[in-house]
Amino acid sequence: MTNNKKRLGVNIDHIASLRQLRGGLTPDPIQAANIVENAGADGIVVHLREDRRHINDRDLKTLKQVVVTHLNLEMSINPEIVAIAAKTKPDQVTLVPEKRQELTTEGGLDTIKLKSRISKVISKLQSKGIKVSLFIEPNIHQIQTAKSINADAIEIHTGKYALSSGKKQKNELLKIKKAAQHAKKIGLSVFAGHGLNYHNVKAIADIDEIEELNIGYSIITRAVFFGLKNAIKEMINLIK
Ligand code: PXP
Repeated sequence: MTNNKKRLGVNIDHIASLRQLRGGLTPDPIQAANIVENAGADGIVVHLREDRRHINDRDLKTLKQVVVTHLNLEMSINPEIVAIAAKTKPDQVTLVPEKRQELTTEGGLDTIKLKSRISKVISKLQSKGIKVSLFIEPNIHQIQTAKSINADAIEIHTGKYALSSGKKQKNELLKIKKAAQHAKKIGLSVFAGHGLNYHNVKAIADIDEIEELNIGYSIITRAVFFGLKNAIKEMINLIK
């Protein structure tokens, strides 16, 4: 796949985080999804957390009805959330690790440690026609395990790359490149995300094997000053 075809999935959780500050109805993530799609993004991403700190069950249900591009639900392997996903049937589920106290998703899913639990969740969701991606570190063993339990795709966690600089960042980039090449070679679709912004996205967008980038925080915070539509268009120009 060439870089021209790279897709942008926009995570709109933080529209809901702002709404939760006052416990009211605005800003509405459904309205945000509409603007994001009209600005040319390829999909909407939301994380239904076990503590419902931003996106809630009603948001998810409505998004399933109104999103016309692609709905990617990030979630843990908690049975209650898995049942909601199986019922809602988003286009895609991305399984992520989830800790109550974290500010955002820290680190990738441990597919080796949780192999049999993840495997059961993958089969259940796939039986409902949902594609399943696993959010993992750029590590060959994690990728091999993802393939062995029949994941459709992996999303490479770019957090370490995003948080580092200089030589360390170059090393992290190299790890991501190698992981992407390996995953693609063994038949997995390859996505990437976390911590990507207007300064660090280009090197990741240049990796041919990566089909889709999932970006949230940098776009939503830029939108505060420049508007959501402009923030999306600017990111699309950088990655395509
Ligand atoms: N991809 C996954 C799997 C995530 O959990 C997140 C954060 O919710 C993102 C991408 C987006 O990360 P950021 O908000 O740092 O762009």
